[in-house]
Amino acid sequence: MDRSRGETAVHHQRFSVSFEYPVVFTEDALDPENLALRDVFDPGARARARVLAVVDAGLADARPDLLPALERYCASHADRIELVAEPLRVPGGERAKDGTHEVERLQLRFCELHLDRHAYVLIAGGGAVQDMAGYAAATTHRGLRVLRMPSTVLAQNDAGVGVKNGINAFGLKNFLGCFAPPAAVVSDVRWIDSLPARERIAGMAESVKVALLRDPAFFEWLVAQADALAAFEPCAMAPMIRRGAELHLQHIATSGDPFERGSARPLDYGHWSAHKLESLTRYALRHGEAVAIGMALDARYACESGWLAEPALEALCVLLERLGLRLWDEALALEDACGRPRVLDGLEEFREHLGGRLTVTLLAEIGKAFDVHEIDLERMARALAWLRERADA
Ligand SMILES: NC(=O)c1ccc[n+]([C@@H]2O[C@H](COP(=O)([O-])OP(=O)(O)OC[C@H]3O[C@@H](n4cnc5c(N)ncnc54)[C@H](O)[C@@H]3O)[C@@H](O)[C@H]2O)c1
Ligand SMILES: [Zn+2]
Repeated sequence: MDRSRGETAVHHQRFSVSFEYPVVFTEDALDPENLALRDVFDPGARARARVLAVVDAGLADARPDLLPALERYCASHADRIELVAEPLRVPGGERAKDGTHEVERLQLRFCELHLDRHAYVLIAGGGAVQDMAGYAAATTHRGLRVLRMPSTVLAQNDAGVGVKNGINAFGLKNFLGCFAPPAAVVSDVRWIDSLPARERIAGMAESVKVALLRDPAFFEWLVAQADALAAFEPCAMAPMIRRGAELHLQHIATSGDPFERGSARPLDYGHWSAHKLESLTRYALRHGEAVAIGMALDARYACESGWLAEPALEALCVLLERLGLRLWDEALALEDACGRPRVLDGLEEFREHLGGRLTVTLLAEIGKAFDVHEIDLERMARALAWLRERADA
């Protein structure tokens, strides 16, 4: 026995940190009379909060009045807000988070402007820009404050209200990233009026997803409102976004695993294939469009397994189609050299993202989900064939 070695001592370190941030739903957020945005800034020790705005170029181009309105707003509330430089435009869409280029460009700018941990990065844009700029801010000085102003249906009901940030790298979706709750979220429902129809439709898939997982009454409401939603009527879009956001927020606050330390990703229903489809199509398929296909595929798989009743599957597929979502994409037919559908590689990539056991969330009924740890590949191939037949019909 080596007696020269010291004793082993274990100190059990334990602490918890509670997070709290306001998520404000409003209209005309940049009207100087609307104090919602002003009120979320906490200047701390300084008289005024130092703010750099990072703006999605797609949003800025579609709303030429937005940057001047933001500057006017900050000037009207100069007692509380100091814009430290001209707003910074970043490319919109998945290009924003394709590798580290945009992240480094932002970090360099944060450095030049001497942003510190009390400074705010105001991120106005879709889910991709939120993910990328949130990551850049979270990794600068180990975390600048982030104020999110989500500008798409998807970002307002999902990506822009939560705690995840990230970029795609090495051919993998969200390979680099971190968990970092924002300081605040201010969501202006009018901003989606300038969003292309395709993007509005895609974003609805995430609301359908949380309804399926958590809230059968919300699912019934979506069915009843399907025509109004397909026509983008504001009286249906606004409550859909709000309820979708609330359910996402509720899950983060109450699931006991906001930073996904376990093996389960219960909000990622339909996502193992969706993420793979996005990369197989080189992001030609929008995230929400891929999620719609992934949800239908997993619902059919649950049906084939005897876990989900056919009428529930049909109700889900019909709702997605009525909203304008397609349930088939040719990328589902891509095969590897052995004739195996390439989308199935998404299962292992999904497992690897969290580690631990493969955990796939499936539906038992609308509003009720459960986890499985194995997927029968032949059965999944039959579910794929069913989707194709349905699309052909
Ligand atoms: N972090 C999370 O929790 C989370 C959750 C879900 C999805 N996501 C990610 O979000 C991304 C998808 O986000 P998305 O659906 O918001 O799309 P997006 O960010 O790709 O934006 C879509 C397009 O809309 C443009 N745009 C944005 N706002 C606009 C507006 N108001 N008017 C006109 N054009 C506008 C953008 O420039 C872009 O061209 C994916 O990368 C997905 O992985 C993240
Ligand atoms: Zn998603």
